[in-house]
Amino acid sequence: MQNKITRRDWLVGSSAVAGGLMLAGAAGAQDMSSMMNAGMPISKEDPIRFTNNENPYGINPKAKKAMIEAHDKAHMYQFSTRRNMEKIVADMENVPVECIASGAGSTEFLMAAGAICGFTGGNLVAPYPTYNAITRYAKRFGGTVTPVPVNEDLAVSLDDLRSAVTAETTAIYICNPNNPIPTIVEKTSLTAFCLEMSKKAMVIIDEAYFEYATDDAYGSMISLAKDNPNILVLRTASKIHAFASIRVGFAFGHPDTIKSIRRFSSMTASYPAMMGAIVSYQDPKYQKFIIDKNNESMEILYKMFEDLGRRYIKSNSNFTYFHAGHDAKVVYDKLLESGCMVGRPYQPFADWVRISTAKPEEMKYLVEVYKRDFG
Ligand SMILES: Cc1ncc(COP(=O)(O)O)c(C=O)c1O
Repeated sequence: MQNKITRRDWLVGSSAVAGGLMLAGAAGAQDMSSMMNAGMPISKEDPIRFTNNENPYGINPKAKKAMIEAHDKAHMYQFSTRRNMEKIVADMENVPVECIASGAGSTEFLMAAGAICGFTGGNLVAPYPTYNAITRYAKRFGGTVTPVPVNEDLAVSLDDLRSAVTAETTAIYICNPNNPIPTIVEKTSLTAFCLEMSKKAMVIIDEAYFEYATDDAYGSMISLAKDNPNILVLRTASKIHAFASIRVGFAFGHPDTIKSIRRFSSMTASYPAMMGAIVSYQDPKYQKFIIDKNNESMEILYKMFEDLGRRYIKSNSNFTYFHAGHDAKVVYDKLLESGCMVGRPYQPFADWVRISTAKPEEMKYLVEVYKRDFG
């Protein structure tokens, strides 16, 4: 069933909108005006997505062009492209090309790491809640998982993770920034933790949202991973590069670890996807545009939380987490009626909600709807 509000009604009818459009800048305003012209409905069936931590602006147009052109050669094997792409990204991270593997997204590396843990009957220690792909695979392939609750600040506790490690533990997963709660683990203590724990287990650091992390205390673990066979770092093109359904991701580690992870991943990213990634990774201007828009959208959300006196987590990602004070499923269902799809409920925080950023003008719409329904 279609909601009565249309994007045109909202844009024309709301006083917040003028500010939203001004904030949106040229690209956003243009986008919204084409929506207005199309009279695009905001509906339950075609909601604005504040839900999967996606890039609402889509793929860099230059990368899109490269992908389209790549189709002319995609009927033949392009064996050298993977190596070229890996070399470019390895150089950007200052690691030798032997220290990187690429695949169709980072999920395949999470699956490989989970499967290795499971096959060997191992135990995986991971924060709770966190991104649950690796925990799912570890269990699916016969391993056990020890969930370690986040602390009272909703942050990952390295001390608690350390205490949960036993003789059976073969893998430790840390998503940094975490998801669904976008807290970070401070780099100095994380470095010490990785060095210590890698003597006992494989430490997997998932840096899917690394590009959005602005806190000075945040740091990548790639430089550590390249020298240590028991540390693996994962990155994805799905987030800032908007390749969620194009599928490109990377694993960084010691050459021996990369060799062993490659057994699970061979030629999985397509030639057009890799040609697009080569362009996208080398265009910092577009990435900066996405980060700036993300910050703008985040500020709109923070203001709403402050206006309503809600507790929230300062984000280092393209999503945040706040205390709605209402059942997350009720919030989800109610907002969806007005064409806003927010994050699903994440246990154990039944009345907290994850909101991914969309375009600033779309955030303004969400704020209006949220305040009307739950303010
Ligand atoms: C922390 C984290 N890791 C990995 C992924 C999946 O990435 P990919 O699309 O590269 O498989 C996601 C997707 O939301 C994520 O949040």
